[in-house]
Amino acid sequence: MTDVRTNGQCKHVFIRTYGCQMNVYDSDRMADVLRPLGYALIDTPERADLVVVNTCHIREHASEKVYSELGRLRDTKRERRAAGGDLTIAVAGCVAQAEGEEIVRRQPAVDIVVGPQAYHRLPELLAEAERKAAIRRAGRRLPGAGVLDTDFPAESKFDHLPAPQGVRAGSAFLSIQEGCDKFCTFCVVPYTRGAEYSRPASAVMTEARQLVTAGAVEITLLGQNVNAYHGDAGDGSTWSLARLIRALAEIDGLTRIRYTTSHPRDMDDELIAAHGTVPQLMPYLHLPVQAGSDRVLEAMNRRHGRDLFRRLVDRLREAQPELALSSDFIVGFPGESDADFDDTMRLVEEVGFASAFSFKYSRRPGTPGAALPGQVPEPVKAARLAALQALLGRQARDFNASKVGAVVPVLFAEPGRKPGQVVGKTPWLQSVYADGSPRLVGRIVDVRLTEGHANSLAGAIVAPAWETAA
Ligand code: 5AD
Ligand code: SF4
Repeated sequence: MTDVRTNGQCKHVFIRTYGCQMNVYDSDRMADVLRPLGYALIDTPERADLVVVNTCHIREHASEKVYSELGRLRDTKRERRAAGGDLTIAVAGCVAQAEGEEIVRRQPAVDIVVGPQAYHRLPELLAEAERKAAIRRAGRRLPGAGVLDTDFPAESKFDHLPAPQGVRAGSAFLSIQEGCDKFCTFCVVPYTRGAEYSRPASAVMTEARQLVTAGAVEITLLGQNVNAYHGDAGDGSTWSLARLIRALAEIDGLTRIRYTTSHPRDMDDELIAAHGTVPQLMPYLHLPVQAGSDRVLEAMNRRHGRDLFRRLVDRLREAQPELALSSDFIVGFPGESDADFDDTMRLVEEVGFASAFSFKYSRRPGTPGAALPGQVPEPVKAARLAALQALLGRQARDFNASKVGAVVPVLFAEPGRKPGQVVGKTPWLQSVYADGSPRLVGRIVDVRLTEGHANSLAGAIVAPAWETAA
């Protein structure tokens, strides 16, 4: 069918995604919005008519990368124009939200700045950008270059986005909650993603069924504070995350359910119990603790201490003895002393993590942490991070080694780097590579784990020959 808006022409969009899984999800949804406008998704910028840079603002380094990328895109745009063509550049995500017009001031080649709550408006923004480009081509000057939309609209973008298209290798993300009201003193999310919002339960269930019909055997529920989920159930009540998980577990063909990312304060009894009673809920939990010192946790406004975290872990492990824990850590928060950092190291030793992400504190303008006294010198942060990562690395290796010899179901995600190999994930989110056919991608197959490494395991497929033959 010819699309009137594109005169049937196929255009190409390249979307560069920085940051978290929420951004990966949003990038997919932007592709869904752009598809009816005639934009086919491509995986390099060279042939793109439109490049969307979906940005992350969480740490300074992530933000700065955006401006170097935009500089490169400006050069491409100049070359295109010199050759009679053009390139439309859009900046999306949290840097777009946080910096708005500043982006166009720093990089005038940017045509569109769109915040995370306004992706459903991309078609109008593109039309407006095209109108401005036409005026410019006609040789007329324009007051102000880019087209901006960084509102937090009253309506939710989810009510306006098209149904998700396509599932990659049996696995899909499903965003159920956005924004955050917790205001940890280091974090920009409450400012860039806005107030906490939960999608209605029926909308989530509908999208989940669509994803399973499209081939998903695994769904990861996403939210900045996913376990604070309280979705309207349509009958005056709300569903908690645990209630939602139990309903999802009823969907035929949905074998794996995951959720990320959580806050310790929202880990309620029902959710802890679900880890023991819902077999589809994978025995893996990402539960950021950030620090092990009560003093630092208080300064971070986490509103819980180390004991609450320890007790939670005990109760979760009681409910699900197989549970693997992952977490986020920040070292060098303002005022963090050597003794505070030792508390973090002790907490890690006591709990034992299967995997973790750890960062040096990054001072974010506008957050309360940025104004705190006692900013920790860079070399101290670097030394603490190295010590913490060495410990977490040892724990990850030990966890992987502990699974060697076991036969576990692996969801294969992609062909491996070496020919004849496939790579997938265990229930504990470990990467496993094994010899096998690319036909196994998207399927869950039993694998005997044979070798444990720092970041992955080797395995051998335990399945009938017809299933594994290349
Ligand atoms: N500096 C360093 N790390 C941060 N995070 C969030 N904000 C900052 C910051 N200003 C980390 C937290 C969070 C993860 C997504 O990013 O650990 O859980
Ligand atoms: Fe940021 Fe804290 Fe909200 Fe997580 S809970 S998104 S770290 S403010």
